[in-house]
Amino acid sequence: MKTKMNDISRKARIAALAAVAAIGLSFLAAPVEAAGGEVELKHADWSFDGVFGVYDRDALRRGYKVYKEVCAVCHSMEYVRFRNLMEPGGPEFTEGQVKALAAEITVMDGPDSSGEMYERPGEPKDAFPSPYPNPEASAAALGAAAPDLSLMTKARPDGPNYIYSLLTGYVDAPEGFDLAAGSYNLYFPGHQIAMPPPLSDGQVDYEDGTPNTVDQMAKDVTHFLMWTAEPRLEQRHRIGFQVMIYLVLLSGFLWFAMRKVWSDQH
Ligand code: HEC
Repeated sequence: MKTKMNDISRKARIAALAAVAAIGLSFLAAPVEAAGGEVELKHADWSFDGVFGVYDRDALRRGYKVYKEVCAVCHSMEYVRFRNLMEPGGPEFTEGQVKALAAEITVMDGPDSSGEMYERPGEPKDAFPSPYPNPEASAAALGAAAPDLSLMTKARPDGPNYIYSLLTGYVDAPEGFDLAAGSYNLYFPGHQIAMPPPLSDGQVDYEDGTPNTVDQMAKDVTHFLMWTAEPRLEQRHRIGFQVMIYLVLLSGFLWFAMRKVWSDQH
């Protein structure tokens, strides 16, 4: 009887611990996503990956500059407002910097008291400007509509690696490939893309002395696009870590509680 009891209690204990451990481990596992496209994507070493992942503030600020000076010529980013740039967990520009950045754009507002629309300088509450009024206008000008980039890293499998690969994936079309229009890209599905190679070495001036190579600018702008799609990533990781600590403490507590309960029975 005693051995049987011990046997059951051992099994129960192992099962309970295994369950707790499995929940704990599921937080540790890196997100597993299928690689997009036919060609295997290039992988960069992202500081935001993993349970302790955080954004690199300098990369976010450089990435914003690349977005603003290069990508924003064709792409909109309608879900991001200038004031987001000063929130914790992002590029964390100062209020003064954000006001100055917003003031560079002109916004149509109104109507005023006489019913007239009027133009005013941008304010922190305003969304990033759109270069085209609608996707049709964008497609007419560019050969295909340039999609909004606010959530792009979440809209593609393995988003950050895909965008990084795409931006650095322009090569000459292989012999025999019928490139009717646009450019050839290793990572774009079907390879023919209406976006011309957007980056070239030295294109954006970096104030912090980081080499402004195509590779570096592609990484920085992708870092920035990850933040626009997931501005709460750091908070989420912090909560995940707290849950892990809680689970470790809970499993320790369960272990001692069960030892006590079963040892009292005989
Ligand atoms: C000259 C205009 C232009 C510029 C500048 C430009 N893009 Fe594009 N982009 C496009 C167009 C047009 C498309 C649609 C391509 C297509 O569907 O063939 C596109 C598509 C994309 C896509 C989506 C690809 C997909 O899988 O559907 C991403 C991501 C992207 N651009 C990122 C960027 C980034 C980041 C920058 C800045 C470094 C940038 N683009 C600069 C015109 C531009």
